[in-house]
Amino acid sequence: MNADGRTRLHQTPEWTALAKHREELGEARLRELFAADPGRGTAYTLRVGDLYVDYSKHLVTDDTLRLLVELAEATDVSGLRDAMFRGERINTTEDRAVLHTALRAPRDAVVEVDGENVVPAVHAVLDRMADFAGRVRSGEWTGHTGRRIRNVVNIGIGGSDLGPAMAYEVLRPYTARDLTFRFVSNVDGADLHEAVRDLDPAETLFIVASKTFTTIETVTNATSARSWLLDALGDEKAVARHFVALSTNAEKVTDFGIDTANMFEFWDWVGGRYSFDSAIGLSLMIAIGPDRFREMLDGFRIVDEHFVNAPAEANAPLLLGLLGVWYNNFLDAQSHAVLPYSHYLSKFTAYLQQLDMESNGKYVGRDGREVEWQTGPVVWGTPGTNGQHAYYQLIHQGTKLIPADFIGFAEPAAELSDELKAQHDLLMANFFAQTQALAFGKTPDEVRGEGVPEELVPHKTFKGDHPTTTILARELTPSVLGQLIALYEHKVFVQGAIWNIDSFDQWGVELGKVLAKRVEPALTEGADVPGLDPSTRALVATYRELRGR
Ligand code: F6P
Repeated sequence: MNADGRTRLHQTPEWTALAKHREELGEARLRELFAADPGRGTAYTLRVGDLYVDYSKHLVTDDTLRLLVELAEATDVSGLRDAMFRGERINTTEDRAVLHTALRAPRDAVVEVDGENVVPAVHAVLDRMADFAGRVRSGEWTGHTGRRIRNVVNIGIGGSDLGPAMAYEVLRPYTARDLTFRFVSNVDGADLHEAVRDLDPAETLFIVASKTFTTIETVTNATSARSWLLDALGDEKAVARHFVALSTNAEKVTDFGIDTANMFEFWDWVGGRYSFDSAIGLSLMIAIGPDRFREMLDGFRIVDEHFVNAPAEANAPLLLGLLGVWYNNFLDAQSHAVLPYSHYLSKFTAYLQQLDMESNGKYVGRDGREVEWQTGPVVWGTPGTNGQHAYYQLIHQGTKLIPADFIGFAEPAAELSDELKAQHDLLMANFFAQTQALAFGKTPDEVRGEGVPEELVPHKTFKGDHPTTTILARELTPSVLGQLIALYEHKVFVQGAIWNIDSFDQWGVELGKVLAKRVEPALTEGADVPGLDPSTRALVATYRELRGR
């Protein structure tokens, strides 16, 4: 029993029933499951907004799904979901509400935090962002020398970088092509160097994005960017025309030297990795314009409403979360691949890595005790078809179970030439072929039937039964991007709720930050850092020697 009166997850009857079911199911074969129910290919699908979600190629039966839904009920996923949407402080270790869903609420909605409706403030910031984005896009907002802004550089890291950087790539066809966008995150000076080396400071706007405005990487890069600008323009006053801040921390923004008139705020109830649709999205809004940005927020909203209202058996985030639990906790899968068949989604998996792994990579439960079950998987993947010529070998014939999400679109981007558009069917043929091959494989007899010599038969056999979810939409629009992100946000939520962990804190990133601060003087000044372990001490000495210090 937990301190909160809950039975430990792995001791609940629902968990035990799933473990028993897994044993009974044995080696579930997708060929057999489809042979027994040919209707499965359409029955195990659902639609949410513009997304068609096919989960038929999973190692599950009706019983599995029923038992998983019972687990969700027993762990009160819907209760925690409702508490989140109501603005309760479900991020208990930081004592904060979790209200990224309020960021996409319509103007007339009411969402209260401590008795105060936050929606007017959300829209006030969106309006200011729209005004500013419009002025940059039209050329009305000029730099210090009167030249129009042609380059926008977002400086941020983690949730203050990955969202806008990813979404800018995704929505490139919708962006103002006469503006250049760059995203700087790494404290490695090479990142900023490469981002600005061909830019004209007089035409460059820096957006410093940091929820806390204390993150060392961002503050360091922003300071260097400021020097780069002032070296060229030679006047402190230039900062006001070339720097804006996105933050919850007005005091630190002022300390840095950015006027709060140039600050777009958000609130502590927006977690960093859930902040992309807050002011953190300003660079994207400049790129695609306020109307497209609103379309994207409305896309998030479609899935928010679906998550709240759809019945369990047709609830996409719930089912995807439960399928993940099935593999992670009952079939020993260690990782989860996300494989988009769209070049524009090239940074989507990197974005999901923070969303999922920073949320659910935890071994301590909400009750303060160590969990006795697996929590978040390793999330990885790159766009197809590139992965097919790199690591798909291991997914097809390796010894590890790797559930995967395949994301694809019926239409290529409208602006492609006819010849490039014609390539789309080939791309999607690969997409469908891969999930088919992963699911159904190729039997030894089928291989033999092709006249393959007996000694090569085992090598050319594909066992199949590699589970995949297919997510298909007509077109990659701003709304569809919002829908996709919200789908994964809520999937991660479902899993965290079941595993009984706080998906909204991130204490695991703190120790490294503290130690980096402690080690730095040893590198720069050769300071004797007390308590340095022998390995790190030797490495520091070698580093200094290599640098000629
Ligand atoms: O990696 C830790 C973290 O706090 C993330 O959660 C966050 O997105 C990132 O650092 C950046 O933080 P900030 O926006 O405060 O600079």
